Amino acid sequence: MSLSPAFLDELRMRTTLSSVIGKHTKLQKAGREWKACCPFHKEKTPSFTVNDEKGFYHCFGCGAHGDAISFLTETRGLPFIDAVKELADGAGMQVPAPDPRMRERQEKSASLRDVMEAAARWYIDQLASPAGAETRAYLEERGITQETQQAFGLGFAPNARGKLEEALKEFPREMLVEAGLIAIPEEADRSPYDRFRSRLMFPIRDQRGRVIAFSGRIIGDGKPKYLNSPDTPLFDKGRTIYNFDRASPAARDTKRIIVVEGQMDVIALDQAGFKEAVAPLGTAVTEHQLVMLWRVDETPIFCFDGDAAGQKAAMRAVERALPAIQPERSLAFVQMPPGQDPDDVIRSGGTDRLRAQFDAPLSLDAFLWRYEAAQIDPKNPTDRAKLKRRLADVAGAIGDPAMREEFGRDFRERFWDAFGWKKKEVDFVRDALAATAGRNQLTGLDIYVRAILLGLSRYPAVVKSRADQIQSLQIGEALLGRWRDLLVGAAFERPDLDADMIETILADAELESAEKRHSWRDLGFSFFKRKTDPEIAVRDLEAAIDTIARSQELDENLESVRANLEKAADSEDFESVWNRESERRKQLMEEKQRLHDELELLGEAAA
Ligand code: UTP
Ligand code: MN
Repeated sequence: MSLSPAFLDELRMRTTLSSVIGKHTKLQKAGREWKACCPFHKEKTPSFTVNDEKGFYHCFGCGAHGDAISFLTETRGLPFIDAVKELADGAGMQVPAPDPRMRERQEKSASLRDVMEAAARWYIDQLASPAGAETRAYLEERGITQETQQAFGLGFAPNARGKLEEALKEFPREMLVEAGLIAIPEEADRSPYDRFRSRLMFPIRDQRGRVIAFSGRIIGDGKPKYLNSPDTPLFDKGRTIYNFDRASPAARDTKRIIVVEGQMDVIALDQAGFKEAVAPLGTAVTEHQLVMLWRVDETPIFCFDGDAAGQKAAMRAVERALPAIQPERSLAFVQMPPGQDPDDVIRSGGTDRLRAQFDAPLSLDAFLWRYEAAQIDPKNPTDRAKLKRRLADVAGAIGDPAMREEFGRDFRERFWDAFGWKKKEVDFVRDALAATAGRNQLTGLDIYVRAILLGLSRYPAVVKSRADQIQSLQIGEALLGRWRDLLVGAAFERPDLDADMIETILADAELESAEKRHSWRDLGFSFFKRKTDPEIAVRDLEAAIDTIARSQELDENLESVRANLEKAADSEDFESVWNRESERRKQLMEEKQRLHDELELLGEAAA
């Protein structure tokens, strides 16, 4: 049985070699590759390497070399077809049924390649001929050097009906039709005509550098501006990336790959020194193209036009990518000035700025936030609600659970930063707290209140478990009162509030200073310490809150002792009231002392 090369290519593409070999042999990551002791011969130091990107393994010790299929046939003795079936299962692919015509088709595509090579050569010759003069002038005017023209194999298709067929007469007419180079009109009496006429010709090559199709740009007026080969046995538009064969080795050096919209942009970038540029072929990037890009680099950089249409196009690529992104598979973006493509930018002298942009592209999360936030009016609550929902949907479209969670959190934080709950109030309190950090200006219980608020900022779950006590704390210092109100409000209005978020709100420096300086009577509560076991910290924090709340209750009771005595001052049973209230006061004072000792103990526990 014979399987098509396209199927086997696809299978290799979808198979991660290291995970196939990893099931059998222990692998260790070594840069972009994996290393192991060779499973094919005995050795103590690893000389066996696995390269996922290229899809092959190689042993420098014994010379064993092969791909996922040969690994299975050789280590497990599986027949070829069983190895293919096992890998196809893992890749979620169906092995095609045996097809007797396959051989014939394979032979045919081999000779179709010959047709394409011959056509490419002929177009190059035409560009050099007198008929190509106008196109040569056009290229010169666009600043494309001879060297670049040669590197990309640019050619010219003259404005003639049957010239290509005549030049390629060694091949039968049906093959030229199948290669998409000529077309036969419906009407029986009309003769075939060349598909590409009066066009600057860009050969499109496969990953191995073989010409599989053409794209032709009109010279002068006419539509369409760009015409591509139709899909043929050699060419599948959605699985092909322009210039991929030249860009991927370059990308390994520069450690990035740049995705632009058009062939002319690729060529202009190449000529400006960015050899790692590619383009999809006039369509939105497909999943298959994304996988090809990710094999070369974890974060392909997409260039997009700064105008609204360009942003939309970039967003379409993102939506295609979201289900498949992972920590090692993302995207980044570089925005062109509105209405310009990279070719325009380079020609107007913007190469240095472009380089700076490529060195610091916009991350996927930043792009998404910017894109979505720009769609709404931030002053309109309905719009803000739309944005909130849209961000949740975008994060929800991410397939990878860790990425989904982190993007969700990132968006909530950005939303909070932009429109957060009483943001101005938070900023004010934070700044004021920072300004008083380290000053011993607080008196009495406020010293402890402040300690507790700092503890709550680190363990916000306690805001909820002790809400009533915190709410009714008597706070002398107005600033601390506002901070308490904020914490309680935030904890209830924002169920997703967590320590990370509060710490972002409360400048980290403030907590650091609490830790380092113990500036309030050298308080050393366990919940100040970063290394404390969270369970112990929460227990101590709750205890400190209980103690202070109770202590304030005692103060109120002491106050009522004083009031009762005052009321009874002139009455006849003053003596009995006095006896009763004195006893009460004594008990209250004792308890208060006990609480005070307890608090001091808590405060010193970790000092
Ligand atoms: P553009 O219209 O932006 O062209 O199309 P461009 O790349 O800037 O080309 P120049 O500078 O005018 O020569 C971008 C890409 O969209 C595809 C082509 O791949 C093109 O490079 N396209 C465009 C088509 O496939 N068909 C068209 O009719 C137009
Ligand atoms: Mn252009």
